Amino acid sequence: MDVEEFYNSYELEKLPNYIKEIINFVDLRLKEELNLIKIKPLVLDAGCGFGTFYEITKNYETIYIDLSLEQLKRFEIDKNKVCANVEELPFKDEKFNTVLCINVLEHTNHKKALEELFRVLKKGGKLIVVVVNKDSLFKEPIFYDFKIKHNPLSLRDFKGYKILSYKSIYFLPSFIKILPLPILKRFLNIYHKIDKILSNILKDKGQFLIIEMVKD
Ligand SMILES: C[S@@+](CC[C@H](N)C(=O)[O-])C[C@H]1O[C@@H](n2cnc3c(N)ncnc32)[C@H](O)[C@@H]1O
Repeated sequence: MDVEEFYNSYELEKLPNYIKEIINFVDLRLKEELNLIKIKPLVLDAGCGFGTFYEITKNYETIYIDLSLEQLKRFEIDKNKVCANVEELPFKDEKFNTVLCINVLEHTNHKKALEELFRVLKKGGKLIVVVVNKDSLFKEPIFYDFKIKHNPLSLRDFKGYKILSYKSIYFLPSFIKILPLPILKRFLNIYHKIDKILSNILKDKGQFLIIEMVKD
């Protein structure tokens, strides 16, 4: 199955409850960390999916792109949505002040995609990426094992680009999934604060890397 086909039929609601719980936790932590990074319009959200991270950009003029038309249809906004490939962006050079690319590069030829994302970024503009971390302490199969092209990346893959900051989130081993759902919920609630602390200590050992780069 190719990436476009997979995401055309991907529905978060259909996943088992314990997976949804863990994904929701990760999304919440990512939103908390991404909200700390200053962004400036015009923004590009490259690989926006069905708009999980819309709250980060909703107050800024933003263009949303995704390879999957079905994901874009599920994203309930009525303008600025474009079906496009991050490896061949349909925009002129230096159009955007901020580019976000959250949980997408793993599905791409990341070198080609990074080149494109930087091409459409203005000088001094920021590229903020989130990727599954190849060098994480633990590996949760939900995030690492995909039926489609999916190559986790590490900080080393961003060598050559000017990194302003980086951080990682989610440090839990896979066995937490054996917890019954109500206990898993409570556990994640308590663990939330610990994850925030670990993010500041184990900066590149969490299962998701958040990297903020600038175009020279
Ligand atoms: C894991 S989802 C992430 C969606 C959203 N950014 C989020 O974090 O919730 C990956 C998204 O990237 C999109 N995608 C994958 N390869 C792409 C490509 N080459 N160009 C544009 N979008 C792509 C998929 O269609 C899917 O919506």
